[in-house]
Amino acid sequence: MPKPIFVLSGPNLNLLGVREPDIYGHETLLDIQARCSRRAAEFSMTVEFRQSNHEGVLIDWVQEARTAASAMVINPAGYGHTSVALLDALKTLAIPVIECHLSNPAAREDFRRHTYVSLIAAGVVSGFGGASYELAVEAAAGLVGAVRA
Ligand code: DQA
Repeated sequence: MPKPIFVLSGPNLNLLGVREPDIYGHETLLDIQARCSRRAAEFSMTVEFRQSNHEGVLIDWVQEARTAASAMVINPAGYGHTSVALLDALKTLAIPVIECHLSNPAAREDFRRHTYVSLIAAGVVSGFGGASYELAVEAAAGLVGAVRA
């Protein structure tokens, strides 16, 4: 079995389902975790799915991924727009990184149009709600050479 795809979610995403549902939808993060696990299984892969509201914790997990993950999907949430430290951690990874967002930040406020994560991401999936995560997992599986079982 290959190493898991780390799927990391940043601040406030634990509130999915109740947080601004007009923007982020009604699915919970648990629902999205189930979708990601199912999609990864189609490629005989697994996901390590985690969420934190804390920048340092996310950075620790990125560092852990250096040896424990085959690829990374990250929704950095607000930290994508602000965190040079998260970018620096991601730059240490030799594995592919896919950025994902539930909403389409480019169609929202100006300050959401830039993310530091995009500087190192192999690609970005935005605007499809929970499906953004699933599509990002599929893209990550493809980038590590996994094929549909
Ligand atoms: C988000 C978009 C960010 O701008 C925002 O800060 C979030 C969620 C998204 O998934 O659409 O918290 O990353």
